[in-house]
Amino acid sequence: MDSAVAPRGMQDCIPDYRNIHEVEVPAYTDIEHHTWAQLYANQQKVLPGRACDEFLAGLDAVGFPPDHIPRLADISDTIERQTGWTIMRVDGLVPNYEFFKLLSERIFPSTDFIRRPDEIEYTPSPDMFHDLLGHSPLLVNPRFCTFFEEFGRAGVAAFENPEIDPAARDWLPRIYWFTVEYGLIRNPAGLRIYGAGILSSPKEVLYSLSDGPKKLPFDLEVIANKPYDIWHMQEELFVIDSFDQLEESFYAWAQGHGLL
Ligand SMILES: [Fe+2]
Repeated sequence: MDSAVAPRGMQDCIPDYRNIHEVEVPAYTDIEHHTWAQLYANQQKVLPGRACDEFLAGLDAVGFPPDHIPRLADISDTIERQTGWTIMRVDGLVPNYEFFKLLSERIFPSTDFIRRPDEIEYTPSPDMFHDLLGHSPLLVNPRFCTFFEEFGRAGVAAFENPEIDPAARDWLPRIYWFTVEYGLIRNPAGLRIYGAGILSSPKEVLYSLSDGPKKLPFDLEVIANKPYDIWHMQEELFVIDSFDQLEESFYAWAQGHGLL
């Protein structure tokens, strides 16, 4: 499940618009640091050979501490030096319009709280492990960043331009879900994962590459019209060939609908 594009009825958190360096860091307990360490160790076991090369390179570039919760400001600075993207603190799910606006300004919203120890396997509400480990490695990938910014601009247009089909406000969260959260990609060595919703959960990592979910060819018109289920494992996943394909096909699709 995602902290960003919020399903209807769960849209209630307004981003903290202060500079990330002015935001006080929560006093995390030892238990909370241990939860991060455990989550991180779990993912280290399953990601090699399953996460895509671009994500693994990003993971190295971001350089998360394995044993304690990182500061959002430090992660933001590291990303900013590489692609200009920054991180903003949020309390939870951000309303779609605000979320699109942030992406269009090359800002990614992240929570700064960690799940409870009994939620190691699964948390219904996204936490900073999902937001940081799942999302930020691709924020150092220039091609993905171009797509992400265009996605944000398209979302802003969907809300601000009265000539655009209002259905676009539903199309874009579905595209986000089946790409940014649950996307698969073909790397030279085989099928790999780039979706943050998968990459921040050991169960999802193993399930997504198993014979369980159907792997479908990437088609934005199909995805835009496909409702998704946030409560169960995904039955169908869409596979891109490259981040070039993702960016180019999204740009063409968005232009076709007057969104860019
Ligand atoms: Fe997410």
